[in-house]
Amino acid sequence: MNRDARDVAVSCNHRKALDLYETALMQYHSYVGDPIATIDQALAEAPDFVLGHAFRAGVLMMFGEQRFVLEARASVVAAENLAGQANDRECGLTRAARRLVEGDWDGACRVYDQVLVDEPRDAFAVQTAHLLDFYRGDALNLRNRISRVLPHWSAGVPHYSYILGMHAFGLEECNQYPQAEATGRKALELQPKDGWAVHAVVHVMEMQGRGDEGIDWLESRESDWAPDNGFAFHNWWHLALFNLDRQRHDRVLALYDRQIFPEPAEFSLQLVDATAMLWRLYLLGIDTGARFQAVADQWEKKLDIERGYYAFNDVHALLAFLGAGRASAVRQVLQDLETTARGTGGSNVMMAREVGLPLGRGFQAFARGRYQEAIDQIEPVRDTAHRFGGSHAQRDLLTLTLIEAAFRAGQPNLARHYLAERLVHKPASALGWRLLARTEGAKPVVPVAVRQAA
Ligand SMILES: [Fe+2]
Repeated sequence: MNRDARDVAVSCNHRKALDLYETALMQYHSYVGDPIATIDQALAEAPDFVLGHAFRAGVLMMFGEQRFVLEARASVVAAENLAGQANDRECGLTRAARRLVEGDWDGACRVYDQVLVDEPRDAFAVQTAHLLDFYRGDALNLRNRISRVLPHWSAGVPHYSYILGMHAFGLEECNQYPQAEATGRKALELQPKDGWAVHAVVHVMEMQGRGDEGIDWLESRESDWAPDNGFAFHNWWHLALFNLDRQRHDRVLALYDRQIFPEPAEFSLQLVDATAMLWRLYLLGIDTGARFQAVADQWEKKLDIERGYYAFNDVHALLAFLGAGRASAVRQVLQDLETTARGTGGSNVMMAREVGLPLGRGFQAFARGRYQEAIDQIEPVRDTAHRFGGSHAQRDLLTLTLIEAAFRAGQPNLARHYLAERLVHKPASALGWRLLARTEGAKPVVPVAVRQAA
């Protein structure tokens, strides 16, 4: 039995294919380069490279888009056909990929974790399960899944820094901000060009309202995470978010036009960020010109294939259609969510039923000016909305919409209620204080200590 650079079992003996796998794995971790193109080279060298097929399926599925499922399924079948020569780890990776293409993201995560029981240094399994935890909004396992393998890693093991970067993000999503920041900075000492670790520290600054530090953090090390990084669009989004908090709306729009949506985006992940930024601007009454139309155009092109695949994406498509005033497309997305919610199989059924559908109805009510209805739909699911994925920072959109709905429904006390929560946790956020100022006349309850901390 062969062992790879991390002492993980691999059945393949083909040296060039294994070397190419290492390159593809590094590309997967770093978001620099094309891991699919590289693994395709490996499979051209060694068509019976079962690990390569399982890797290919998993990486394709991590785009979170229906359009890649067919191709991923072909890779799963190729891996399954080679089961006779696969080791236990590779059989596990294949079973996990099978679950993925069948829509069982929860089951896939469990199988990847089973692989990690015996092979805790399987960096591909670690990262794929980590990304699935993100898509499934499983904050606890964003941290704990990495914690379970961490004792098996050290600075001498290739790709250790990326494991630290993932742990940093998991710690942040579990609200352990000092530990998250320290871990992220340690990861970056080992590998400065880890966009995910940069992003983990960004999230700490975002959650603590440290906007000026966040801007400096991203701008001072821009060459580490941009431009040639497939994840850069999201760090640009965070930079715009920091600027939005500081009311630098021209800067936000410039970042949007040059970095977040410089040309019609191809991937749902990019469209999600573009849409979410426009919705935040819309809530604040900032003129976004024709930008909603351009994003809505891209969502419309994708929905024939993507509708009903992932509720998190569907809700963002709906936001784009609301912003663009496309009522029939809004109705279509809501119908898709209703259809999905009535289904019986796959992780997305719960996401659509428990989170996507009430949120979609709430956002629609908001855009129609039915603010009480928006509150009635959004408020009950706000605290469980993590179940359809994303980060705390992304889902802040729900709370901001809820607060704005409360203002417009003539309920400043309700707005103040949620602003109090926000300002206790994020006292340095200028946006929170500006919104609170709108509650003038409502009973002030924000503690003096919080005001002084800002
Ligand atoms: Fe983020």
